[in-house]
Amino acid sequence: MNLQEQIDHRRTFAIISHPDAGKTTLTEKLLLYGGAIQVAGAVKSNKIKKTATSDFMDIERQRGISVATSVMAFEYGGKLINLLDTPGHKDFAEDTYRTLTAVDSVILVIDCVKGVEAQTERLMEVCRMRNTPVIIFINKLDREGRDPFDLLEELEDKLSISVRPLSWPINMGSRFKGVYKLYDGSLRLFDAGSQKVEDDALVIEDLTDPRLEDIVGERDAGQLAEDVELIEGLFEEFDKELYADGLLAPVFFGSAINNFGVKELLDTFVQIAPSPQSRPTNMGPIEPHDKKFSGFVFKIHANLDPNHRDRIAFLRVCSGKFERNTFYHHVRAEKKVRFSNPTSFMAQKKSIIDEAFPGDVIGLYDTGNFKIGDTLTEGKKFMFSGIPSFSPEIFMELINKDPMRSKQLEKGIQQLTDEGVAQLFKQEHLGNRKIVGTVGALQFEVIQYRLEHEYKATCVFQPIEVYKACWITSEDPNALKEFVKRKDRYIATDKNGIYVYLARSQWLLNSEIEQNTAITFHMTSEFKTAVV
Ligand code: G4P
Repeated sequence: MNLQEQIDHRRTFAIISHPDAGKTTLTEKLLLYGGAIQVAGAVKSNKIKKTATSDFMDIERQRGISVATSVMAFEYGGKLINLLDTPGHKDFAEDTYRTLTAVDSVILVIDCVKGVEAQTERLMEVCRMRNTPVIIFINKLDREGRDPFDLLEELEDKLSISVRPLSWPINMGSRFKGVYKLYDGSLRLFDAGSQKVEDDALVIEDLTDPRLEDIVGERDAGQLAEDVELIEGLFEEFDKELYADGLLAPVFFGSAINNFGVKELLDTFVQIAPSPQSRPTNMGPIEPHDKKFSGFVFKIHANLDPNHRDRIAFLRVCSGKFERNTFYHHVRAEKKVRFSNPTSFMAQKKSIIDEAFPGDVIGLYDTGNFKIGDTLTEGKKFMFSGIPSFSPEIFMELINKDPMRSKQLEKGIQQLTDEGVAQLFKQEHLGNRKIVGTVGALQFEVIQYRLEHEYKATCVFQPIEVYKACWITSEDPNALKEFVKRKDRYIATDKNGIYVYLARSQWLLNSEIEQNTAITFHMTSEFKTAVV
């Protein structure tokens, strides 16, 4: 296959959901279809790493939380599908946001009983920022859920995206009888507990089939005909272009645990999901068919073995062909690097690869050279943008408990923050005070645990009064200097040495914004990469 054929062959996506909506269950069913696993139950709820090779941390096992993000590649419908796993726990949401920079589309899972939940909204905000195409799977139809029309309305309202159902349920819960495929007019009957992966139970070809009433009963047949008429009146025809632009989400109904409605979802995904797309850089977009290799690191994983501090950097190939044992340019570090053991993640097994193409995610062994967001090229000095840090939500001061090991602590916290576990803000002018910011409380335990086990450094976290960290810039260097001096107690620097203002409350932040018009306050760090 030539480069263009390799690109056309690939689909790289992630499944996202509020915890417990059924992401892990759906992942498992997709892997069954793809032949990547043979038995149901091989991927356990949120313990997906148990069978995968990227289960690096004891703490993750202890808690049964999928801390890490890994990749599962499988073939289906003539396509090579790269499914990027995202952590289920909300405290690791930032990992998920970064993973979304490495995919070309997503499947969003919604629990039909709960509808749109908090995490769903936040994840969709990130998708909208990048116009990522979204397919929605409304799950758990075997439970008594909300009215499907209400669910669709809620999706449009809360997620600010137009929706178009492509399948439609006949009842829910104990009376759930099946789904009608609006796109081809066929009906599939529900068969609880089905673990089969073949297509069966295709019962009727269209709504006028007289057998419909015999099969689902007069009342349900009438209701279905009414619903379908309403849908055709309410919704425009499904428009693939609008989907590709991230403006319209097709919706499927089903039950992941019963493997129902999953095949329809997967078949449609293979048909409509975009192949690897271009990626923004500080020098304009890079197209996948650009002959020269380029890619970026969106995730760094610590080694499972605490005695070896090497890590795996996950790199998304964006253009050209990646080759083993070839020197590439590490743009930020300004050095040449090459990899003798790059890995792929086919069928949940890690294996060494010789080459990789746009859309692929490869694992690169790293001894501390990489930070999240790093770019590799064949020599050009551009950097991929769009891998933002978000203002954290919880802030603590890091206090060293063992002065004899302050060097190890320094190194440890530096490396952990390079991995993206948390963000580190330093106040060098205040005795090198270190403030750690995270999106969830769990990270502090992870950091403490890892500093102790991997770096033999002990620390405690002390609560501090910080509400938000805003990156600050100004077109007027003097104004910035003056602000930094005047507010020095609340000024820190981030990992790139950019000034950050630590606001104690929204009210104080608003008043600083109002009073300092020469200063721009940024809620994400994205502007940095854009101006490198
Ligand atoms: P997550 O990764 O999004 O967090 O969700 P996960 O797949 O782990 O599913 C959460 C729970 O919902 C699991 O139950 C799972 O079995 C259940 N579930 C998934 N799909 C369906 C469905 O279509 N119908 C119904 N009724 N339940 C579904 P659990 O009791 O938490 O875990 P487990 O003991 O089944 O593993």
